[in-house]
Amino acid sequence: MVFILAATGSAVGLGNIWRFSYMVGESGGAAFVLLYLGCVLLIGMPVLLAEWILGRRGQSNPINTMAKLAREGGRTQAWILIGLSGILAAFLILSFYSVIGGWSLAYILSTVTGTFTDQDAEAVGEHFNSLLGSPGVLLLWHTAFMVLVVGIVARGVTKGLEAAVRTLMPALVILLALLVVYGMTTGHFGEALRFMFSPDWGAVTGEVVIAAMGQAFFTLSLGMGIMMAYGSYLGRDVKLVSTAGTVIVLDTVVALLAGMAIFPIVFLHGLSPGEGPGLIFVTLPIAFGNITGGVILGLIFFLLLTFAALTSAISLLEPVVEFVQERSPFSRVWSTVAAAICIWALGIAALMSFNVWDFPILFGLNVFDLLDTFTSRFLLPLTGLGAVVFAAWFLDRESVRQELAMGTTGTMLWNVVARFVAPIGVVIVFVSAFL
Ligand code: TRP
Repeated sequence: MVFILAATGSAVGLGNIWRFSYMVGESGGAAFVLLYLGCVLLIGMPVLLAEWILGRRGQSNPINTMAKLAREGGRTQAWILIGLSGILAAFLILSFYSVIGGWSLAYILSTVTGTFTDQDAEAVGEHFNSLLGSPGVLLLWHTAFMVLVVGIVARGVTKGLEAAVRTLMPALVILLALLVVYGMTTGHFGEALRFMFSPDWGAVTGEVVIAAMGQAFFTLSLGMGIMMAYGSYLGRDVKLVSTAGTVIVLDTVVALLAGMAIFPIVFLHGLSPGEGPGLIFVTLPIAFGNITGGVILGLIFFLLLTFAALTSAISLLEPVVEFVQERSPFSRVWSTVAAAICIWALGIAALMSFNVWDFPILFGLNVFDLLDTFTSRFLLPLTGLGAVVFAAWFLDRESVRQELAMGTTGTMLWNVVARFVAPIGVVIVFVSAFL
């Protein structure tokens, strides 16, 4: 049970609410959503299972696990690259994740102080833009978020948090469901549903396809080894397939609810779905500002969002800290502080992308977009591909059969999906992005 809570705590985060909705909006809606769902099922599920299988076999962190399994199977030690690129991914992702976590913190305060009460879309948009335009303020909140994460990781109190996931995650789902109900009263709910679920396949580009796969990896916390690390704590009796199903369904439900809550507001106020990373921060506050009890609901929402962001951020910092601790004379606390300072510093470059460094530096992307794009579209899928290929092709069949504990048909299905469907899927997505 603790395991499911930890895995869900890592999976459900800003990726489901902030990133999912802005990606859907930017990528034109339904085609992206359906491609994302397809990637979750055909690529995400097998990669998740592969990471857990490897973790439970290896009984250690991703680097040592891959080293051990490669050695036992007589394979090259180059497989530890999977562990190493995972650490790099965690490092890069947390730097910009913390900036958005900071926005969520900032919005707790703005909501309780009544900033959004009775405000129209324009005023709410201006409030967001003035936040973006103040590097000092962004830095303050980014720092505050990082300090919270460090405080939790350094003391190793993650156990207590898992208990909180048990109550706070359902609360988040209920609140999102309430917002969906509000969306139904706006008169734009049908339009939102069509936007999210009725695809125009003609408009799909390679860009949309690879963005959908990136979102699937990001939202399920795949391709970074964190699920592998959790797998090493997995009890022998835990059924991998049904557990993976639970985590994936929960994660997907949160994302879809978020979308169904946000897009009616977008259409009601004539906003652009392609607004970008600010989408939830310029839509939800309008709703909170205009419904009775909105201040309380808004406060609860941003508290829950921040909590979900924290549990994900912890899962990003942990592996980096462990890496530093294993290779340095530092204690746990100092390893945490050292890792966090480097990540925090990179985060400063990310937050300046919204103001003073608001220009492309490479491939037409600013620092923030570069960090996000490079990790979710390349690093995570490549690392995940490595994990699923190793588990499906290089781990001995008997181990896999024991781990999955599925019977002949199930094992056969795994063989087809993990050996062919998922790896070929990733390759097709990569190829389509370059055509
Ligand atoms: N999945 C988290 C979210 O949706 C973010 C996250 C946590 C993550 N750990 C990860 C993403 C590891 C990729 C890899 O907010």
